[in-house]
Amino acid sequence: MRIIRVNDYDEMSKKAASMVASQMILKSDSVLGLATGDTPIGMYKELVKLYNNKEIDFSDVKSFNLDEYYGLSDDNTQSYHYYMMNNLFNKVNIKRENINILSGIAKDIEKECLSYDEKIKNAGGIDIQILGIGVNGHIGFNEPSVNFEAGTHLVNLDKKTIESNSRFFESMEEVPKSALSMGIKTIMQSKVIVLLANGEAKAEAIYKSINGKICPEVPASILQLHNNVNVIVDEAAAKLLKNY
Ligand code: GLP
Repeated sequence: MRIIRVNDYDEMSKKAASMVASQMILKSDSVLGLATGDTPIGMYKELVKLYNNKEIDFSDVKSFNLDEYYGLSDDNTQSYHYYMMNNLFNKVNIKRENINILSGIAKDIEKECLSYDEKIKNAGGIDIQILGIGVNGHIGFNEPSVNFEAGTHLVNLDKKTIESNSRFFESMEEVPKSALSMGIKTIMQSKVIVLLANGEAKAEAIYKSINGKICPEVPASILQLHNNVNVIVDEAAAKLLKNY
């Protein structure tokens, strides 16, 4: 694992955007694995800036998002579809047909998940996968006690995740209790992984994932077995890390 310590959120966002941009410059038809949540918003802003400065071009790029809430339609303002259109896709020249996000309202969920993994495979695999991390160590929506061998699937969300995500919803009842997520197997097949974490709330999850033992109770700990993981952490999130 390559641990890149930075001072703050801004520096983390710029470094992450530079990594994605380099990938796109080296391979114009790159396949990007994208994440949602608060963490990558700054990175998306930087990518939009680079696009506006004509330093990067999304016309041949394909994207696959990590996850989507079960039961939310694309136009629901809390859906990850909506988030991605708002934060990135509507602001750059990516082709609509090259955008892939799991559908939270698919009639046949199993088919939706299986065909998602198939589509990733047919696109040649993910060149660079961006990840955030949950306070409980989840990646995508792969919650503690995860099955490391699972591909994309429907997940029951952990109590901690539901609580943490409730900040985006009007009431607790509205917070989805399940989601569709790329599985660990899918994530681990990405060629390069960039995990972003900022703020003290993530310090314990970062410590357990990097210094702790690899176990299903800490889903991100499996990343220790991947041969090209870059973790960009600010000082607050890195504060418990040892030997880095
Ligand atoms: C969400 C997402 C994850 C994200 C994580 C952290 O539940 N499914 O992909 O990494 O929580 O979110 P945030 O970046 O808002 O802290």
